[in-house]
Amino acid sequence: MPKITEIEDLKRIYKRRVPKMFYDYAETGSWTEQTFRDNCSDFDEIRLRQRIAVDMDNRTTKAKMVGQDYAMPVALAPVGLCGMQSADGEIKAARAAEKFGVPFTLSTLSICSIEDIASHTSAPFWFQVYTLRDDDFMQRLFARAKDAKCSALVITVDLQIMGQRHKDIKNGLSAPPKLTPSSILNLATKVGWGLEMLQTKRRFFGNVVGHAKGVSDPGSLASWTAEAFDPSLDWERIREFRRRWDGPVILKGILDPEDAKMALDVGADAIVVSNHGGRQLDGALSSIRMLPQIMDAVGDKIEVHLDSGIRSGQDVLKALALGAKGTMIGRAFVYGLGAMGEAGVTRALEVIHKELDTTMALCGERDVANLGRHNLLLPEDFATRWR
Ligand code: GLV
Repeated sequence: MPKITEIEDLKRIYKRRVPKMFYDYAETGSWTEQTFRDNCSDFDEIRLRQRIAVDMDNRTTKAKMVGQDYAMPVALAPVGLCGMQSADGEIKAARAAEKFGVPFTLSTLSICSIEDIASHTSAPFWFQVYTLRDDDFMQRLFARAKDAKCSALVITVDLQIMGQRHKDIKNGLSAPPKLTPSSILNLATKVGWGLEMLQTKRRFFGNVVGHAKGVSDPGSLASWTAEAFDPSLDWERIREFRRRWDGPVILKGILDPEDAKMALDVGADAIVVSNHGGRQLDGALSSIRMLPQIMDAVGDKIEVHLDSGIRSGQDVLKALALGAKGTMIGRAFVYGLGAMGEAGVTRALEVIHKELDTTMALCGERDVANLGRHNLLLPEDFATRWR
């Protein structure tokens, strides 16, 4: 096994191990993938200010997110289909997160169900819902998440309809994979993945099959997902979801200061500045570039988190220094999961934690809570282009 010192190392192993259709599912943006690329490259425009001869002993990355204590301000983002990246993938990722002391967010479109995660972990996890047409199903999801003692509800608000991802359409993405001549050829080269997958019964969307109206078997699932999202979503419906959940509510997918103000108005506890990893509106600005404007609009009134583009502890530090109180990683942990299961997610978290801790020290800080713009060398056009 090669030495894993950075997230890219996990990605290389992941690509070799997992069927192409699931690698492509994670590693895609919508349409031209401009926003998907910008999410990462815009982090590179921000440089860090080195300080020396500052006491760097006794550092801490500990942080609170939505009132809960964690080892660092990094949560595992809700990612669909993790149980196809690795057998029982959501259970493995949730266990790694629990041991590391960071939140795991279970996607509604996961393979393992809410109940599976609750019975295989003891730390409370966060649960993500889409805004779906079928309100009965949503009510039941809320109740199941409550029974499972989920400690926050993450509502994805940027998926009324789905952005088009060319690769998924071309690959005929499905769970479990449909057997076509090209998928069979590819699956034949993924022996380790296949042997593990044969040993689990969890191969369908566990929160949906047998729970949503008319979805009693995997065959009916494809038409359900095509029609499930609520294109007529409005802020009143989001306000209603807020009322239904008596714990912290995090609205994920805010990219505009006006929407951030609305999130505050409906009583959300936190927002995630996000463009869905570049998978929705191609051509939107990167999350890190929108963060300063959103901080100016609501930063002192609501907890602001950020996702999309984070691949290192340095990226986490930059988001925190621009005001975020939390971050989410999606692809960065999926690479680990696909590469090495639970151990790979743990490794991804260790890599990011070490990078965050060391970079913080080299910036002359001992506590993530003290990070701020004084740690950054912002691009010259920051005042005009970034805000
Ligand atoms: C769903 O949220 C996806 O991005 O695939």
